Amino acid sequence: MRYLITGTAGFIGFHLARRLLDAGHAVTGIDNFSDYYDVGLKEARNALLEPYDAFSIHRLALEDKAGLDAVWNALQPEIVVHLAAQAGVRYSITHPDSYVSSNLVGTFNVLEAARRCKPQHLLVASTSSAYGANTKMPFRENDRAVHPMSLYAATKGATELMGHSYAHLYGVPMTFFRFFTVYGPWGRPDMALFKFAEAMLAGQPIDIFGQGQMSRDFTFIDDLIEAIVRLADVVPGEANRVADDSLSPVAPYRLVNIGGGAPVALMDYVGALEKALGRTAIKNFLPMQAGDVPHTSASAELLERLTGYRPSTPVEAGVSAFVDWYRGQH
Ligand SMILES: NC(=O)c1ccc[n+]([C@@H]2O[C@H](COP(=O)([O-])OP(=O)(O)OC[C@H]3O[C@@H](n4cnc5c(N)ncnc54)[C@H](O)[C@@H]3O)[C@@H](O)[C@H]2O)c1
Repeated sequence: MRYLITGTAGFIGFHLARRLLDAGHAVTGIDNFSDYYDVGLKEARNALLEPYDAFSIHRLALEDKAGLDAVWNALQPEIVVHLAAQAGVRYSITHPDSYVSSNLVGTFNVLEAARRCKPQHLLVASTSSAYGANTKMPFRENDRAVHPMSLYAATKGATELMGHSYAHLYGVPMTFFRFFTVYGPWGRPDMALFKFAEAMLAGQPIDIFGQGQMSRDFTFIDDLIEAIVRLADVVPGEANRVADDSLSPVAPYRLVNIGGGAPVALMDYVGALEKALGRTAIKNFLPMQAGDVPHTSASAELLERLTGYRPSTPVEAGVSAFVDWYRGQH
């Protein structure tokens, strides 16, 4: 298959591209190597993809509509996975413009390109943050999600709605994923696991927000990739409607959580890291940060019904794989 993946220099895009290349697919990547975090890490990921003959990278921003169209039209992609975005809840409080630009304008340009040159399936990354202030657990795709707690979440929720309108108007089949806190080797330096490991190995204290009372449905990267690869084959339509589906009544459009449905207390996550590093963290307990939600919990039922799969790597194993990679890098 000819895949176009946006965000291949990023954490998830890199893993997805590598998995598809190993399976014999052709992958074209688009990434602007933004300096939101260490560009060296993005270059290092990209350097592992470049040796594949079936891989090519275009260093361009999604906001460059003409550039995006040129790549898209030349490739005529069969499957598009749109992962590039300005990620991060906290950064959206200090740098809101970046979210409007990458997430809203960037996704609009992707939708426009898909309208003009239709892929068989367009899959787009959204987030568990879209559930916002919801307190009913686990979070289900059919729950109303209209109270975002950060601009990041608001832009992601908006792209879900934009996508639905294009799926309806132009018949482009779309799956929007809601990812739940993804972690693992080659992970993001702005996320807790990376920051904690860095601080603990330097003998520095770690900042634990929410006074250590938060919990997350952590998803190990390999599990997430498995789910994405399986969902790529499930092009939304009546033929594959399942019970309690989020499939739109008027469009080939579906929202799917990717999370295992087994939330873990933040302090247990820290405990797994302490064990893997063989060190005890110096803990600096702090109040909740603006924009954060205290708990996330995915209903994995829809994912399982559609693909026969649900993420299940225990955090001890996933954190240990992260630490092996981190030690190898540093
Ligand atoms: N990692 C998680 O836990 C998580 C959770 C929920 C949702 N998501 C979503 O999954 C997707 C991938 O996340 P990730 O963790 O790999 O993040 P990441 O920041 O590592 O990767 C995103 C990539 O997109 C690129 N990019 C950003 N803006 C761009 C633009 N305007 N034009 C071109 N490229 C651009 C960046 O350079 C980066 O390489 C994002 O959409 C994110 O919002 C991630």
